[in-house]
Amino acid sequence: MTNNASATPNSARAAGPTNSRNKVRKAVLPAAGLGTRFLPATKAQPKEMLTVVDKPQIQYVAEECVASGIEHIIIVTGKGKNSIEDHFDSAPSLERFLEERGKKDQAEMVRKISNMVQVSYTRQKEPLGLGHAVLAARDLVGDEPFAVLLGDVLIPGPNPATKQLIKVYESTGVGAIAVEEIPKDKTNLYGIVDGEPAPQPPFGERLLRIRDLVEKPKPENAPSNLGITGRYVLPPAIFDCLARTKAGAGNEIQLTDALRILAKEQGLWAYIYEGISYDAGDKLGFLKATVEIALQNPEFGAAFRSYLKTLKL
Ligand code: UTP
Repeated sequence: MTNNASATPNSARAAGPTNSRNKVRKAVLPAAGLGTRFLPATKAQPKEMLTVVDKPQIQYVAEECVASGIEHIIIVTGKGKNSIEDHFDSAPSLERFLEERGKKDQAEMVRKISNMVQVSYTRQKEPLGLGHAVLAARDLVGDEPFAVLLGDVLIPGPNPATKQLIKVYESTGVGAIAVEEIPKDKTNLYGIVDGEPAPQPPFGERLLRIRDLVEKPKPENAPSNLGITGRYVLPPAIFDCLARTKAGAGNEIQLTDALRILAKEQGLWAYIYEGISYDAGDKLGFLKATVEIALQNPEFGAAFRSYLKTLKL
């Protein structure tokens, strides 16, 4: 990586604090992957629609967008993903059915899903990688900064990770990606950040300037134990970086490779976000998310906790 990446990102100085050009209004949710880690469940249904407790995963992600102030969600879909569109569409006959039977609360719940935010769709014709999926949203995003949230990574909690990244972007004008500490022997499952601490108020020690990024390194080659978590806030310049990115690991166009170019040319922050993530596209991650989110449920969390205590483990 060149010196440029370790200097104060140029656009940080140029863009300065929040102005209308820095405002993050849109989010891209790539959801066109094949979900092979979750077969056979994903043979005929999108993994983003697998239910965690009582909602499909992608609804949690859309709710994180809304809680972060996003006004327009762009979902990247592909073959066999129509149920995602149906889920966020209005369902007048279901609403009428529920209302006629006096189930007003349920009718309202169904209505809220389709009214919560503007949703647009674009299609990735072939699943050629996460970077390729983000590039498919270029026209819908246009020339403005945007968030990216992976459709199968859940980060529940009161302080949305996307909101934390938006604060970094809006106050510095430089892209930011969420990272978290991961076990040293699991680096081969993540994109790993090589970062230099760059503390500044109000972000403190959580902010690092990215020198480089490495996709899924073996533990002995990993530059740190900070793994990329599945939340990003990026300037529109990432699209040019993606257009210049050739197929990499797994013969896919990797977002991480385009982020390396962006870090070098414009600077990029890693932000150690506050919260816990679950990779719900993985069977064990899905189970952990299910148990922990169920324990927080106001309706049956306490009963579920009592039940778990009866298990002879
Ligand atoms: P994953 O790597 O988890 O998705 O990508 P995948 O390829 O479906 O997973 P496995 O390994 O086969 O189980 C993270 C997110 O990026 C989307 C996925 O849908 C998921 O939400 N993605 C991935 C795309 O939209 N297009 C792609 O080509 C690849």
